[in-house]
Amino acid sequence: VERNLILSFESSCDETSVAVIENGDHILSNIVATQIKSHQRFGGVVPEVASRHHIEQITSCIEDALSEAQVGYDDLNAVAVTYGPGLVGALLIGVTAAKTVAFAHHLPLVPVNHMAGHIYAARFVKPIEFPALALLVSGGHTELVYMPEPGKFEIIGETRDDAAGEAYDKIGRVLGINYPAGKEVDRLAHLGKDTFNFPRAMDQDDSFDFSFSGLKSAFLNTTHHADQLGETLSREDLAASFQQAVVDVLADKTVRALADYPVKQLILAGGVAANLGLRERLTTELEAFDNTELLLAPLKLCGDNAAMVGAAGYVFYNQQQFGDASLNADPSLEF
Ligand code: KG4
Ligand code: ZN
Repeated sequence: VERNLILSFESSCDETSVAVIENGDHILSNIVATQIKSHQRFGGVVPEVASRHHIEQITSCIEDALSEAQVGYDDLNAVAVTYGPGLVGALLIGVTAAKTVAFAHHLPLVPVNHMAGHIYAARFVKPIEFPALALLVSGGHTELVYMPEPGKFEIIGETRDDAAGEAYDKIGRVLGINYPAGKEVDRLAHLGKDTFNFPRAMDQDDSFDFSFSGLKSAFLNTTHHADQLGETLSREDLAASFQQAVVDVLADKTVRALADYPVKQLILAGGVAANLGLRERLTTELEAFDNTELLLAPLKLCGDNAAMVGAAGYVFYNQQQFGDASLNADPSLEF
């Protein structure tokens, strides 16, 4: 069997990442330079700061990825890159670097949708079997994606306002947690109880859409009201109540979608897929489905990284979905 090596790039938000992926499913290297510390004092990602960090980091990320994988440019078969969605200035750094490497070394260029990348993080667990359904939950997106065959993506439901991760980060700030707050809220949630019974928006309607802004408002109203009365609420119970509301809606909708879309696999991916409460709940729910297997993206590959881009890039490479020198960043790219 011929050895396929893809050099992949990810720079859509606040991680600069370059990876070398063998045959679409084996990580030879996956360098992730995070900028989180630089953004924390602003309470979120500052686009200008992100772009500058990407510029500063990208060359050493490429060098580290190649040396850790023990390969040279001549060994590569293709270059894959996230070209959207994300911050335009941030995306441009990865796209420009990828185009430069591809041009200089006469390699095919494979454009990758960041959200397709998240889905293919699950490829490192086992092969994806079609049809499949993906619950994609990140800081910018919350969507249910039906995949009838490799390379085909249909959004069957999505958030009408905030993304799940965005809601975590906003309520986390009120709990005094640094950006990105999801992991710490998740930890607190496991120490508390659902005593507040926050609203589960759109849980019972017929669509597969989500809404998290009402939950966020209910949370903020509750803490604000307590502040005014000088009361102290349990941070653990607040986190547990918030998390239970998020997990209930995500799990209920996904289970309902599985009835309309019988699939071989359900894939959980995106930054919020690292949520232990959500992973546990879907594991339990999927026990009732004999013909649908649950594929959880590996914990370490839920957040943004280039390995997932290389895995998706391998699929598009085999489908000969190539880009050229005109490839541009597309901040609002959709499937
Ligand atoms: O996919 P990602 O790394 O970046 C985007 O493409 O948006 O997702 C980041 C989001 C952040 O909002 C972060 O708070 C959230 O994922 N997150 C979590 C957990 N770990 C990260 N949310 C809930 N529970 C977690 N354990
Ligand atoms: Zn992401």
